Amino acid sequence: MANEKTGCQIPESVNYHFTRQCNYKCGFCFHTAKTSHVLSVEDAKRGLKMLRDSGMQKINFSGGEPFLHKRGKFLGELAKYCKEDLSTPSVSIISNGSLITEKWMQEFGQYVDILGISCDSFDENINEKIGRHARGKNHLETMRKVRTWCLEYGIMFKINSVINAYNVNEDMSENIKELDPIRWKVFQCKKREGENYGEGALRQVEKFLISDDQFNDFLERHADVPQIVPEYSEMMVQSYFIVDEYFRFIDNGANTTSQSILDIGVEAAIKDSGFVEKKYLDRGGRYDWSKKPVCADKDLSW
Ligand SMILES: C[S@@+](CC[C@H](N)C(=O)[O-])C[C@H]1O[C@@H](n2cnc3c(N)ncnc32)[C@H](O)[C@@H]1O
Ligand code: SF4
Repeated sequence: MANEKTGCQIPESVNYHFTRQCNYKCGFCFHTAKTSHVLSVEDAKRGLKMLRDSGMQKINFSGGEPFLHKRGKFLGELAKYCKEDLSTPSVSIISNGSLITEKWMQEFGQYVDILGISCDSFDENINEKIGRHARGKNHLETMRKVRTWCLEYGIMFKINSVINAYNVNEDMSENIKELDPIRWKVFQCKKREGENYGEGALRQVEKFLISDDQFNDFLERHADVPQIVPEYSEMMVQSYFIVDEYFRFIDNGANTTSQSILDIGVEAAIKDSGFVEKKYLDRGGRYDWSKKPVCADKDLSW
């Protein structure tokens, strides 16, 4: 969608990876701890306002692990700002879940529409082998605890899974149906140069990669799971607005970054985002992403 006056692409749905630091070590990770930079909360808010003024409808906070920086305070403050001050229709988070506390949910849950937890297997040994795991904690228990809080605090619960050589033969259907997320995003494990392969990479993805045929088999096995949203590696390329820790757009096709939106504005920076709207729509990027007011029917009964 383009702005009618300027003809400029509208950043409708944005993923803000404000930190690259993480407490997990997933072996395939494609957004790694190459810097420890995080903007000040004031600059992050300034950037988010610029995006909102340009038409942003959904912000997804990602990383690294978004609950790590300042023990979740930074994330909470940004979620609150986006919801209360900027009236952003959808505020979402994708997390490994391990650092989320009930106190955080009590304080900031009201500002979150969707909370996604990444989980790649229902066999804890496989999560551990992948590196989707924190010492002394059980990732599956973590996910179930967060799901319960989501129900309690009125947040839509989502699951992301990366399908790779370690979990490709698994049947997750019953577990996913029981957990009943609003969406189950299923990614074919993807390569990203300088992140999980090639020069300067902090991870080595080769042993995790699967073919399209293997991914198709996995999808066929889960065809009766209604919430499934599959993404082939190729579909992830240039179908997201990705903003990094310096508030630059990342073009994950050309593997380049724009100048910072904070310095040159959204309109100039977005030209280097590489974003292709058709790919965004084809992957189902636009969906029902705002939670409904809990008391809507109570008001009518007055
Ligand atoms: C980079 S993580 C950051 C947020 C958080 N730490 C988490 O794991 O959910 C964002 C999403 O990318 C997924 N991801 C990471 N590496 C990937 C890869 N090589 N291919 C496909 N998806 C990947 C993660 O599983 C997660 O759902
Ligand atoms: S995918 Fe794993 S290693 Fe990468 S940021 Fe998320 S939890 Fe951390």
